[in-house]
Amino acid sequence: MLRSAPRSGVSAALWPAYRVDSLPVSDLNPITQEAADAAVEAALAAFAAADSVAALKTARTEHAGDGSAIAQLNAKMRDVPKDEKAATGKVMGQARGRVEGAYKAREAELAEQEAAARLVAETVDVTAAPSRQRAGSRHPLAQLQEEAADIFVGMGWEVAEGPEIEHEWFNFDALGFDPDHPARAMQDTFFVEPADRHLLLRTHTSPVQIRSLLERELPVYVVAPGRVYRTDELDATHTPVFHQIEGIAIDRGLTMAHLRGTLEHFARQMFGAEAEIRLRPNFFPFTEPSAEMDVWQPNAKGGARWVEWGGCGMVDPRVLAAAGIDPEEFQGFAFGMGIERTLQFRHDINDMRDMVEGDVRFNRQFGGLV
Ligand code: FA5
Ligand code: MG
Repeated sequence: MLRSAPRSGVSAALWPAYRVDSLPVSDLNPITQEAADAAVEAALAAFAAADSVAALKTARTEHAGDGSAIAQLNAKMRDVPKDEKAATGKVMGQARGRVEGAYKAREAELAEQEAAARLVAETVDVTAAPSRQRAGSRHPLAQLQEEAADIFVGMGWEVAEGPEIEHEWFNFDALGFDPDHPARAMQDTFFVEPADRHLLLRTHTSPVQIRSLLERELPVYVVAPGRVYRTDELDATHTPVFHQIEGIAIDRGLTMAHLRGTLEHFARQMFGAEAEIRLRPNFFPFTEPSAEMDVWQPNAKGGARWVEWGGCGMVDPRVLAAAGIDPEEFQGFAFGMGIERTLQFRHDINDMRDMVEGDVRFNRQFGGLV
């Protein structure tokens, strides 16, 4: 909005920052104070009205550029009588100075506003939920292995690991398998070439029993979860690549009662306080006596029943001797449970193939921890 220009000189109220010399009044002088003030005021009003740096630049071209009112007044300087030139030039200089000063001030103000607006517009909300990419999660089998191991860690046991490509001696010989035991046959075991190196993909986690006994001081209380391989066909209850959790406890005076109590605790932690276990006599070359361990499944599809969870037994004195331990002084027990079976029992999964296919819709049901 345009304010009316002061009639003569500059009113102190309107232009407090400036004290402008008044123009000599002469009929011969083509430049009037009123015209200079009007040009300044029009420019200042236009600058104030500009709402962006770009609009301000346009206003400057219009009010201070060639062809503007102030430029036209300036052009008349050549017609000003000689003795009035100095005073008139001073007034024109002050007018241009005021326009330039107002421009600079407004430009700084608008630039600051625009920068602030940009900061607001570009603010990133770090609390917003990410929408583009789903976070991945660990596989339920990996979580379950950890959960199972944690139950034993809670009882003071250690967690051990062994290699998946294992020496035949650890996987079979040290565990008392005869050289012609059927488990060694090509149809059960994946051997690694060249055959004369006697390497294979471990068929169970039991070789970690031997490694633990050789590496550790007695007593030994160790669990070893991990992947194992067999030439089994993929079906609803078998896969050629699966997981077991091995356990071995060697101490003075351990009996079958300790084995049973430990496995019952493990089963109840895994399947609930009402879980029941049953030991069925069986044979393993590295335990004596040996048993298959079944879990009572009250909610099994097709009715409540016993289902095999793994094998167990008292560690055979020959195994202790192979690890340089005196069986007269130390005894203990060992067990090996299937992790896929555990997941099947816990979640009523009928088909083991669902676990290995890698379909995220399967994994998501377990609300996987990232
Ligand atoms: C063993 O592997 C013995 N090493 C267990 C053991 C350890 C006995 C310590 C004594 C002392 P078995 O072959 O039964 O035993 O396998 C144990 C468990 O692994 C089975 O009960 C089952 O839960 C699981 N399992 C076996 N084969 C498969 C397979 N192909 N797919 C998925 N799980 C399997
Ligand atoms: Mg078995």
